[in-house]
Amino acid sequence: MSIETLLHESRVFYPRNSFSSQSNVSTQTLYEQAHQDRLSFWESQAKKLLWHQPWNQVLDWKRPYATWFEGGKLNASENCLDVHLATKANQTAFIWEGENGEVRTYSYQALYEKVNTLAFQLRHRFGVQKGDRVTLYMPLIPELAIAVLACARIGAIHSVVFGGFSSASLKDRILDSQSSLLMTADGGYRRGKIIPLKEMVDVALSDPDTPIKTVLVVRHTGETIAWVEGRDVAYSQVMEEPHFMKPESMDSEDPLFILYTSGTTGKPKGIVHTTGGYLTHAKYSTKVVFDLKDEDIYWCTADIGWITGHTYVIYGPLSNGSTVMMYEGSPDYPDFDRFWGIVARHKVSILYTAPTAIRSFMKWGRDYPDKHDLSSLRLLGTVGEPINPEAWVWYYEVIGQSRCPIVDTWWQTETGGIMITTLPGLHAMKPGRAGLPLPGIEAKVLDERGNEITSGGGLLSLTQPWPSMLRGIWGDSDRFESVYWSQFETYFAGDGATVDEDGYVMVLGRVDDVLNVAGHRIGTMEVESALVGHEGVAEAAVVGMPDLVKGQAILAFVTLTEGVSASEILSKELIAHVSQEIGAIAKPQKIIFTPELPKTRSGKIMRRLLKNLAEGKAAGDTTTLSNPGIMDDLALKMQATC
Ligand code: WT7
Repeated sequence: MSIETLLHESRVFYPRNSFSSQSNVSTQTLYEQAHQDRLSFWESQAKKLLWHQPWNQVLDWKRPYATWFEGGKLNASENCLDVHLATKANQTAFIWEGENGEVRTYSYQALYEKVNTLAFQLRHRFGVQKGDRVTLYMPLIPELAIAVLACARIGAIHSVVFGGFSSASLKDRILDSQSSLLMTADGGYRRGKIIPLKEMVDVALSDPDTPIKTVLVVRHTGETIAWVEGRDVAYSQVMEEPHFMKPESMDSEDPLFILYTSGTTGKPKGIVHTTGGYLTHAKYSTKVVFDLKDEDIYWCTADIGWITGHTYVIYGPLSNGSTVMMYEGSPDYPDFDRFWGIVARHKVSILYTAPTAIRSFMKWGRDYPDKHDLSSLRLLGTVGEPINPEAWVWYYEVIGQSRCPIVDTWWQTETGGIMITTLPGLHAMKPGRAGLPLPGIEAKVLDERGNEITSGGGLLSLTQPWPSMLRGIWGDSDRFESVYWSQFETYFAGDGATVDEDGYVMVLGRVDDVLNVAGHRIGTMEVESALVGHEGVAEAAVVGMPDLVKGQAILAFVTLTEGVSASEILSKELIAHVSQEIGAIAKPQKIIFTPELPKTRSGKIMRRLLKNLAEGKAAGDTTTLSNPGIMDDLALKMQATC
């Protein structure tokens, strides 16, 4: 390997020959093929799946609605399981490690059997039909993956709700998707503590309008839980007897799942993904970006509750027949070396994690990874937010021991899979720059008018439809059109970016009112509406504040209702309130009480000025404010609390 040492941030790293020479992609051929004929390129990727019936047309594009592989029929669970049985029945599909140290493994055959049994019961015992929605609110245990695949097998649309969300968030997502069945567990472990999932479910379902008829409960922690006769059913009981369930033949464009994500309004969006195009991209991108081989032990540390877990814990690796590591818990439990123990114990060869985790590892120090044998690692990846070059280089040197290429993958819930990255055996790596659009993907950086920018910053847009693109927002096509398609002729990603002379894209972060806290997307409006839902709060404005580990932390400016006075206790209460309304991931780091918020004469809150304050910059132009003095007061308050 050679390193060009220029300025710290402009070092370029190259994959070693030993990596490139064995890699799945080591030439430009895929780029050339996709360039010559994008649709036939995608067609050749789709042909790597098992179809019951071929498609009539690769793409039908009526902006902003795409139809991929129209007329084709397939089943996602069959493509993740049945197709491997002839050659890989005994190969391990999942290695799962619980936070308490328990290890369970599932061969492809065993996983297939579980999925079939659950799918059969969902259909024949609980009457779940093709197209019905099923909500999954689970810890990161194998049963969650089994449930996802069982839904896919019978054509039920899964809606996984991350186990860190509150009862209120769960309730909203159930009502929006109108799910008839919910699967959960008694609880999950997080840093040795039990998260009482079933208790949260009971609260969420106390809503008289709940559409949920059946709650399937996995016994995981063994805690005592409340039981509603006639509604609650033990998972172990339905799994007693093995069954076979024929995979439902799904149209390529039948929805596979809904996944809720934050936007710029208070209400989360149910992003809809369909079957054929999504799975085509999941399989293809996993193979080329992670250079997957049969011998790999592949570990994507994301929770299945996020899109990363859908595509790169379940559908991508399983459709490629690989061995997937899953770990239930937290990276610092029981000690700061938990991840490195897992890598060494299970001989993990590919590790895909988030910049926020990497920055935590840096903070904890290299003694923790250094205690373990990390020689099984051969490729590293990151996702979720921009990675700062320091963290990139640390990851490269300390975890990858200057041996493993790093793929910095940019994508979104909406894109279904990786859009921009380097390919590990082919490209030079530039810390902090995600890289190039994958073969088959077209991306550009545009100015506000939609003209392409070749130097300096602009807005990132995906300029051609791609198979795994979102097909809409569940039940809200107006919002789909206005959020993603009103800014430009092409797809507006919501991120700012620059491109360098080699075409490498550097993603700068969100340009809208969406925060990225520890890789989690949180809408400022969501937090604001939670805050004003508290009786003591009159108004709230939420902005992101730079945080060394989380990337961004939440800063809330709050005005109180008449007669309520600011106090440390109230501040704690408001933080707890947000946690209860949305979930712990959305907790404000700090609340600043103020008698008024900066507003224009027409009454619009000037969040931009607050953002500057939070970022430690000068407030900016305050002349349009109806109350210009307020910014000085707030600046003093910020200083006092920092
Ligand atoms: C937003 C999408 C995609 C799975 C995880 C998050 C940011 C994601 C990167 C990256 C810079 C990144 C963007 C994007 N983001 N990956 N490699 N470099 N920023 O999915 O919750 O839908 O969030 O995450 O801002 O828009 P998500």
